[in-house]
Order: sequence, then C-alpha cells, then structure tokens
Amino acid sequence: MTMSARRQAPAVARNRGPILDVLRDALPVSGRVLEVASGTGEHAVHFAAAFPDLIWQPSDPDPDARASIVGWREEAGLGNLLPPVTLDAASPQWPVSEMEAVVCINMIHISPWEATEGLMAGAARVLDSGRPLILYGPFRREGLPLEPSNAAFDADLRQRDPRWGLRTVESVRVCAFDQRLAFDKLVEMPANNLVLVFRKA
Ligand SMILES: C[S@@+](CC[C@H](N)C(=O)[O-])C[C@H]1O[C@@H](n2cnc3c(N)ncnc32)[C@H](O)[C@@H]1O
Repeated sequence: MTMSARRQAPAVARNRGPILDVLRDALPVSGRVLEVASGTGEHAVHFAAAFPDLIWQPSDPDPDARASIVGWREEAGLGNLLPPVTLDAASPQWPVSEMEAVVCINMIHISPWEATEGLMAGAARVLDSGRPLILYGPFRREGLPLEPSNAAFDADLRQRDPRWGLRTVESVRVCAFDQRLAFDKLVEMPANNLVLVFRKA
C-alpha cells in the first residue's frame, strides 16, 4: 500500500480531541474496540495511540476508505491498531464478534436508516452486558429547531440522498432500546454535535 492512499477529513483535526475526552470516560480500560465507519482512519490512529491497552479494530464498507486506513496504519506503526475489515453496518452478519466497545462517528446521518438499525442490532450481537456503544455526530433534538449550521447541513444531505439526514435523538434511542441497548448519557459537543452512549442491558 502506498502512502498516497491516505486521505484527510478536515473535521477530524477539530473533533478528535473533544471525542477523545469523552472516550476516556466511556471506554473500558482494556479489550477490543470496534470502530464502525472509520472513514479516513485518522480517528483510529489517534485513538489507538491514546489507548495503548485497547485493541482498535477499524472498519468501513468503502474500499477507498479502507485503503486510507491501511496507509495511516502503516505510517503510525501502532501494535494495537488492527488492519481494517469490510463492515456494512446494515448487514445482519458482521466479520467480528465479542467486542468490549463499539464506536461510530459521523455515520448515522449520512447513510440510510437501515444502517442505524443494523448498527444497533450488530452492536447488540457483539457486546456483552454493560459494554458501551458510543455515537458521535449531529442530531435533531425534540422540541428544538435545528441550529442554522445543522439545518443547512441537513438540507444538503437530503438533496444528495433523500434517505440521508439528521436523525432525532429520540428515534435513535428507540432503535437502540429495541435491541436492548440502554441509554446511558448524552454529551454536548462543540459545533452542535452530540455524543450518545448506550450500554448493552
Ligand atoms: C462522513 S464519513 C465519516 C468517517 C469517519 N468516521 C469520520 O468521522 O471522519 C461516513 C462514513 O460512513 C461510511 N458508511 C456509510 N454507510 C455505511 C454503512 N452502511 N456501514 C458502515 N459504514 C458506512 C462511509 O463509507 C464513510 O466512511
């Protein structure tokens, strides 16, 4: 794999620090963490470096994303960062099992709702009782108008694909509850994003 496969997402440099602060609190001390929708792989490298006692498993269904993850992984040389696996959250079969945590950053709004349903079902399959599913991204809040930046983002997403768009926190909570993933906490993040933490019942 050549280094030219590495891609950069400008938002990662802005959000990886605040997300890391939440992960320090929500992740177990050791064990395996599945990252669904790793994208460029920049988060995977940052978090694997920050948590040397965790084994970080990146994944993405997009071959270009996986090539980018491989490129960043080769450069980083981290022993606890595994090669990426091909994982479509919507699939009823995932290529992994028995994880101590699942992390998914910025996927739910930019994929069909079936991906969120599959994410909840898959997380419930691979997590043991008490283990966390941690989501990050922009969401709608019941009874509150979207912030102007998120409203513009939502309109752009829906124009690109009518199946995409910002989800309500409540709809995501119900979807998780249906899979026996209990709501743990909501954390307000910079730039009108949220972290939602669920734990397997
Ligand atoms: C906006 S990018 C976010 C990437 C990375 N998590 C980040 O925050 O930079 C969305 C990612 O979701 C992935 N994705 C889309 N549909 C998916 C699905 N059904 N299952 C898993 N990943 C999916 C895409 O391939 C893409 O890498």
